[in-house]
Amino acid sequence: MRGAHWGLLALLARIVAAENGLDGWLRYAPLPDSLLAQASPLPAVIVALNTTSSATGSSPVAIAAKELQVGIKGMLGRQLNISTESPIFRINSTQSSIIVGTIAAYSAKYGSLNASSLIKDGFWLSVKGSRVTILGQNERGALYGAFDYLSRIAQGDFSDVDHVSNPSAPIRWANEWNNLDGSIERGYAGPSIFFSNGLIVKNLTRVSQYARLLASIGINGIIVNNVNANASLLTDENIQGLGRLADTFRPYGVQVGISLNFASPQLLGGLATFDPLDASVIAWWADKTKRLYQRVPDLAGYLVKANSEGQPGPLTYNRTLADGANLFARAVQPYGGIVMFRAFVYNHHADWNDWKFDRANAAVEFFKDLDGLFLDNVVVQIKYGPIDFQVREPASPLFANIPKTNVAIELQVSQEYLGHQDHLVYIAPLWKTILDFDMRVESKPSLVRDIVSGQYFNRKLGGYAGVVNVGTNTTWLGSHLAMSNLYAYGKLAWDPTQDSQTLLQEWIRLTLGHDQAVLQTITKISMESWPAYENYTGNLGIQTLTDILYTHFGPNPASQDNNGWGQWTRADGKTIGMDRTVGNGTGFTGQYPSELAAKYEEIETTPEELLLWFHHVNYTTRLRSTGKTVIQHFYDAHYAGAATAQTFVSEWESLRGQIDSERFEHMLFRLKFQAGHSIVWRDAVNGFYYNLSGIPDELGRVGNHPYRIEAESMKLNGYAPVAVIPSETASNFTGIVITSTNGRGEAATTLDVPLGRYDIAFNYFDVIGGRAHYGAFLNDKPLLEWIGDLEDKLGHAFSTKLDGHSATRITFEGVEITRGDVLKIIGLADGIELAPLDYVSVLPVGIVD
Ligand code: GCU
Repeated sequence: MRGAHWGLLALLARIVAAENGLDGWLRYAPLPDSLLAQASPLPAVIVALNTTSSATGSSPVAIAAKELQVGIKGMLGRQLNISTESPIFRINSTQSSIIVGTIAAYSAKYGSLNASSLIKDGFWLSVKGSRVTILGQNERGALYGAFDYLSRIAQGDFSDVDHVSNPSAPIRWANEWNNLDGSIERGYAGPSIFFSNGLIVKNLTRVSQYARLLASIGINGIIVNNVNANASLLTDENIQGLGRLADTFRPYGVQVGISLNFASPQLLGGLATFDPLDASVIAWWADKTKRLYQRVPDLAGYLVKANSEGQPGPLTYNRTLADGANLFARAVQPYGGIVMFRAFVYNHHADWNDWKFDRANAAVEFFKDLDGLFLDNVVVQIKYGPIDFQVREPASPLFANIPKTNVAIELQVSQEYLGHQDHLVYIAPLWKTILDFDMRVESKPSLVRDIVSGQYFNRKLGGYAGVVNVGTNTTWLGSHLAMSNLYAYGKLAWDPTQDSQTLLQEWIRLTLGHDQAVLQTITKISMESWPAYENYTGNLGIQTLTDILYTHFGPNPASQDNNGWGQWTRADGKTIGMDRTVGNGTGFTGQYPSELAAKYEEIETTPEELLLWFHHVNYTTRLRSTGKTVIQHFYDAHYAGAATAQTFVSEWESLRGQIDSERFEHMLFRLKFQAGHSIVWRDAVNGFYYNLSGIPDELGRVGNHPYRIEAESMKLNGYAPVAVIPSETASNFTGIVITSTNGRGEAATTLDVPLGRYDIAFNYFDVIGGRAHYGAFLNDKPLLEWIGDLEDKLGHAFSTKLDGHSATRITFEGVEITRGDVLKIIGLADGIELAPLDYVSVLPVGIVD
């Protein structure tokens, strides 16, 4: 009877639940019967200590109690009361209950407890049958403990525990690159949840929901605005708005901080200067800081991007970066605030003819000599690699070079260079390559994770900054599966020794339930996703090869070189890769501790996945591991990566019926897009290097596509060929477009294939600025109709041009075709979208090309 009741509840919940992603991994879905059967007896009541500490009743402990109530109701179907311990209703600590609060509050009530093993934000969770005790070193820790307990239940773990958990580092922050106008730099999930029209939004419901998600993974701080900061965040009106944001985050233990524009005293304050040593500038910042702390007494502090990519900074006045950082450090010091000062400082007008110049050298060059000069509340925030969130980079050597400075690692949850959330890329394995990396400082084990925690160099501060960039889309990041990255980010910041697959599987259970096929399939495709993406984008450490001058989404290998941005590959007709050796190159290898410097200096000892990062070699250089030439490795890796991406679709399709249709269809659409776009990537990168080197693919695939019919070779009416730039992003360098605005065009071809079933892939370009219509007909019978409206369905940055960003594919499966059938495509242009087409592939079943 009990089972039937639970089962019915679960079924109903499954039918009604709107799985739009808003709750992320905190869905508290009813547990399946099999797990419920293992549930231990439930506690009778929730006792919330500390809830009187906040006048509004919304302290982290009050939130913890509410969360426990909602979670248990959702997962186990039982409504528990929350007692705040009125004098008449006393709970004895040995009774069936969940007691949640701080160690101090518990000790005051029930007698003292030895909690010396807990550090700030840490918690102790004890489950003994129906007696559950969740105690935090502070209120935030208690909330973390409650989330931990709920996560155990959600994963069907009812065992007794006696568990102490402490964070690896004090700083575990999210950075949100939100602009005051509501747009988000490198955000792919709609506009800001914080800002609109220059002000903080009125309705903060989404902010509170976000705070809940962040708290549940241990994030304790958030920078709400873009590192390319707008000074008008500091107006009195916006300071009041920031106050409302902070009030919303506070109950969840998340402290708000802000990015500053270094020139604010001039831009906003009307001063003649923003020189960090000028008395009027110092006074201006002191006053602003005071006003901020009046409204937000627990403001986390400031984040500063200075003298980078056109941002103002102290170098303008010949002051050092330390002078700049310390200006703010002094201002926030009386209030307990900290300054995150970014190490992402470099010259983006570099001379590309200078073979000794290297952007990768910049961070160490700028910061090494300043070691020891930063005040104690400054933390230098270092991107994981020396360039910029590429698909593969070595760990930044700066981690080993400033032992007397607090440091934090900057990771990017937002997939700026990793497919904008429209490609599935589970990033935790990439982050782990850096966090677990041994810098060999003085030839001793010195893992990056121990350096950033502050432990290795015995620093008080340190930790994590994750660029997240959530938007108003209900999925937060624009894709349900992309949320595994946010989850893993928070969990790794808490404990970087955790395994990325274990974290992934936790997230899957919490987000998508307990079905074994769901668990296995999503584990498989997620764990394969970063290697696959690396394979079909940039290999051997050459960087992502995306278009760095435009949207950072689709392929454009040439855009890396011959400009001042310094993401060079140095590819020419015979050779490729940056020579970063001390012996003959830019000297970058010499920035590492000696053991690593020696290792990276030689081709023979450089890890192959970073070969072209460190060395300039011939395309015909052979790899140690496989004996393949570099160029053949490129070709093969791109084919392998795109082939893997095709399997994501079939793997996901095998889960139909196991996942609610809302999330199932959402992801299916994205995975199909990725499969198509991975072919665009494969062909563009392979084509580019084939054209450059003239070296053919040993397997004859590159530039040879027997199943393709180029659109420009079809019989055209109202359509005309057009050269695509970059040329390698179109098959045969050419597409077709309708020749008149809002016109109509036809492209027809007679098929020369034996009778059989085929999949027909249509490669076209979906630009922003129009929604063209397409209709495909076989012998005048309608086959497929579609609209170039991906901009309404996907979140990536769109292009107005025919290029590697707009190139995409739609496939119609299982069409019966015989020789002589006529395939016709009719296009209707709309706006600047001239119903562009690249080619059609008529594919025998089992072949994708
Ligand atoms: C990248 C990114 C920019 C960002 C910058 C930064 O270059 O493309 O949008 O502002 O990093 O991290 O400051």
